[in-house]
Amino acid sequence: MNDQLIIFDTTLRDGEQSPGASMTRDEKLRIARQLERMRVDVIEAGFAAASNGDFDAVKAIAETIKESTVCSLARANENDIRRAGEAITPAASGRIHTFIATSPIHMEKKLRMSPDQVVAQAVKAIGWAREYTDDIEFSAEDAGRSELDFLCRIFEAVIKAGAKTINVPDTVGYNVPGQFADTIGKLIARVPGADKVVWSVHCHNDLGLAVANSLAAVQAGARQIECTVNGLGERAGNASLEEVVMAVRTRRDIFPCDTRIDTTQIVPASKLVSGITGFPVQPNKAIVGANAFAHESGIHQDGVLKHRETYEIMRAEDVGWGANKLVMGKHSGRNAFRSRLLELGVVIESEAHLNQAFARFKELADKKHEVFDEDLQALISDEAVTPELEHYRLISSSFRSETGETPSAALTLSMGDQETRAEATGSGPVDAAFKAIETVAKSGTQLLLYSVNAITTGTDAQGEVTVRLARDGKIVNGQGADTDIIVASAKAYLNALNKLHGKFEKLNPQV
Ligand code: KIV
Ligand code: ZN
Repeated sequence: MNDQLIIFDTTLRDGEQSPGASMTRDEKLRIARQLERMRVDVIEAGFAAASNGDFDAVKAIAETIKESTVCSLARANENDIRRAGEAITPAASGRIHTFIATSPIHMEKKLRMSPDQVVAQAVKAIGWAREYTDDIEFSAEDAGRSELDFLCRIFEAVIKAGAKTINVPDTVGYNVPGQFADTIGKLIARVPGADKVVWSVHCHNDLGLAVANSLAAVQAGARQIECTVNGLGERAGNASLEEVVMAVRTRRDIFPCDTRIDTTQIVPASKLVSGITGFPVQPNKAIVGANAFAHESGIHQDGVLKHRETYEIMRAEDVGWGANKLVMGKHSGRNAFRSRLLELGVVIESEAHLNQAFARFKELADKKHEVFDEDLQALISDEAVTPELEHYRLISSSFRSETGETPSAALTLSMGDQETRAEATGSGPVDAAFKAIETVAKSGTQLLLYSVNAITTGTDAQGEVTVRLARDGKIVNGQGADTDIIVASAKAYLNALNKLHGKFEKLNPQV
């Protein structure tokens, strides 16, 4: 349909390639469910050949998601394509997205292949992919720096071979809107069979132009945009889903198409992705930043009070602001708890896990009378480590911080099936807690990030802490939430150590 703009979300693949944004299978599943709820058309669930962990995550998403197409990325080689094909086989609707570089610099210096070899490899790749699905997308990596004649040649060949979506990535974020639109317009006009496929764009944000380039391409005829929640992605990120969707929705007078997105799910998706990856959203970020709808100046406030549209082009509630409903309190029962989690897209697989999460909910409801959706999401993030992968666990803690005294922490931890006590002093209680954990874990990690955010408002709010640790080139994020931010910090540190403890190797598809 020419008036539908397909939203292809790659938060779980390109987004996950941001250093420090790697996610566990369960975290990916939670995000995938939220993307489905938001009515994203295609979810790029990962790069199945990258590691066994990635394969399992793509497969689990393919088994779970019913309303969106589930896609795996694959380089244009037989092994990658077969892994992708196997991973998406359970999907109600599955896609293979295969790519090969087409710019002179990539072909010569990276692939060391001639243009003829690249075309031949791309055609073979479509042939392997067709053994698994008819829904095949082909990307010309670094199309933004490729020669137009060569792009026309390779696209014609892959369309003949059976590709149904042709993606034009600006891999290094080099293009500018007028010129990118011109390229897309020329490709659609010149490539034989162009009218039989969907034209797609995938823009990186190195010059801050990813959204502008994507929208310019839509005006030139593209009907699929590849984007990520909060603009997450390699380096400066990808085109941000929320900005693309709201631009098209708000300026229907300019764009000849619209998306299927339920925009009220945008802010919950943004919070979920930010919480899981530990990448905060800047307050002045369009649509999902905390200040995106805040009017500070008196003139603006006066105008908005008299007539909202004087200064507002969108309504905060239409993108999901103000939706943090009061869900439950300490009298809520286990069934209500389970159903609310299901509404939030959280499926707890075992009864034991549900009981554990419910006990923690009761503890929280005792400390904090109003429990919001965000509190539940954080509680689940805390619980989300699969029990068998949970090597370290905080049993109890005590911290001392007094004027004129050196702060100290004493923790009881379980490590595997052993219980152990850890004590240390530090420059503050958080520093002391981390040092105490290290006296027993001896992890040899480097702390890259420590951040605390209040999940909701009020001084009884839970603090959500993100800790990013690195070891041997592997970077992980740990989260912890508690009304006591020192406890939240210790939990976040242990959560990160648990993720480092579970071994998985990962490839970056562009390397
Ligand atoms: O940026 C890029 O070129 C990509 C491709 C694999 C589509 O992410
Ligand atoms: Zn990319």
